Amino acid sequence: MNIDFSTLKKDFPILEREVHPGKQLVYLDSTASTQKPQLVLDAMDEYYQKHNANIHRGVYTISEEATQMYEEAREKVAKFIHAPSRRNVIFTRNATESLNLVAFTWGRAYLKKGDTILLTEMEHHSNIVPWQIIAAEKELKIEFIPVLADGKLDLQAYELMLNKKPKVVSFTHMSNVLGTITPAKRITELAHQAGALVVIDGAQSVPHLPVDITDIDADFLAFSAHKMCGPTGIGALYGKLDILNAMPPFLGGGDMIRKVTFEGFTTSDVPAKFEAGTPAIAEAIGFGAAVDYLNSIGMEEIARHEQEIAKYGLEQLEASGIKVIGPRESRGGVLSFVMDEIHPHDIAQILDSEGIAVRAGHHCAQPLHLKFGLPATTRASFYLYNSKDDVNSLVKGLDKVKQMFDR
Ligand SMILES: Cc1ncc(COP(=O)(O)O)c(C=O)c1O
Repeated sequence: MNIDFSTLKKDFPILEREVHPGKQLVYLDSTASTQKPQLVLDAMDEYYQKHNANIHRGVYTISEEATQMYEEAREKVAKFIHAPSRRNVIFTRNATESLNLVAFTWGRAYLKKGDTILLTEMEHHSNIVPWQIIAAEKELKIEFIPVLADGKLDLQAYELMLNKKPKVVSFTHMSNVLGTITPAKRITELAHQAGALVVIDGAQSVPHLPVDITDIDADFLAFSAHKMCGPTGIGALYGKLDILNAMPPFLGGGDMIRKVTFEGFTTSDVPAKFEAGTPAIAEAIGFGAAVDYLNSIGMEEIARHEQEIAKYGLEQLEASGIKVIGPRESRGGVLSFVMDEIHPHDIAQILDSEGIAVRAGHHCAQPLHLKFGLPATTRASFYLYNSKDDVNSLVKGLDKVKQMFDR
C-alpha cells in the first residue's frame, strides 16, 4: 500500500483549529492521547442517533442492534492484535484499568507471601502502582530490570534476575518517555522458561506498531483506545482463555453473573465475567471504528512513517544543541528532551503560544526520571497525522524559547 500521509491531516477536524490568532494547532502529544478522525466521531454519533439502547438484555430491535455493534467492535479489536478469538478481549476503561484488573484478580488469587514481581525501570505508573498495592497487601517483593544509559533494557541483568524465579514479569512494549521498543517476544519467552506469568503494557505499542499477541505469546496485553484514534473511557485487556477462565471476577454486578441467590452467585463466561455493569457502548463502537481506520492505512506503514519523522526530529533537535534521551535505534515516535536549565513547563508554555502542543513533566514515569537524574523533560510525540513540517515548527518554536532565555 502506498499511503500519502500528507493527506491524512484532513481526516481530523481538530487539526484545522487555530489555538491562538494565526496559530494553527501543531499537535505533538499523541503519546498522552491521540486526535480522533471524523469516521470515529460519526460512528459514535450514529449509535446515539439510531441504535441507543442497553446491550445484552433487550429483546427489542435497537438493543439487539446495539449488542451486535458492541460485539463486532470486540471482534475488530481482537483481530487487530491477532488474538485467537473475540473472547480473549475484555473491554475495560483504559490500559490502567486493564493492568489493575490483572494485579487485583490474578495477583490476589495466585501470588503468595515472598513471591517476586519483575517490572522494568521504564514503566509508566500504571504498571508500577497496582503491583505495589498488591505487594503491600500480600507481602510480595518487586524488582526492576535496569535501563541502560542508552535507554535500552539491560537484558543480561534480566536473565540473571530470572534465576530468582519471579512469578510475574510485567513490562512496557514501548516506553512513553524514551521511545524504546522492547524485545517483547524474547522477554516473554525467557519469562515463560522461568515459569513466570507475562503481562505486557501495550499502551504505546498497540497504537504505533503491528502487534501480534499470538506470536509474542504473552499471557496478558493491556491498551487504551484513546491512544489509537479512538475515544476516551474504553480500553482493552487481552488474556489467554485458560487463564481468564480460572481467574476470579474483578468487579461484581450486572452482566458478569450467571445466577444470583441470597447466598451467592455464579459467573458468566469470559469475557462478560469481567465486564460488570453497563459498559461504554458508544465508546466500544468508536474503538472498532478507530481500528478500521488504522487498518485502512496499515500498521507497518504507520510505524515506518512515525519512525521516519522521529529520526528527522532527533537529527533536527540534536543539530540545534538539544539533548534527547533514549536510544538511537529501536525507538518509536517519542522525543523527550532537556534544554540547559530551562524548565520544561516554560518550554511548553512558550511553544503553546505558537500553537504547538507538547507535554512537560515526568509523564507518569517518575522513577525513570529519577534514574536519569532529571526532575522533568519536555516530550514531543508523533502519530500518523504528523509531518516533517510539524518538526520544523517545533524547531522554530524552540529557537524562540532559546531567544527568550538568551541561550
Ligand atoms: C506506557 C503507558 N502505559 C500505560 C499508560 C496508561 O494509559 P491510560 O491512562 O490510557 O490508562 C500510558 C499512558 O500514557 C502509557 O504511556
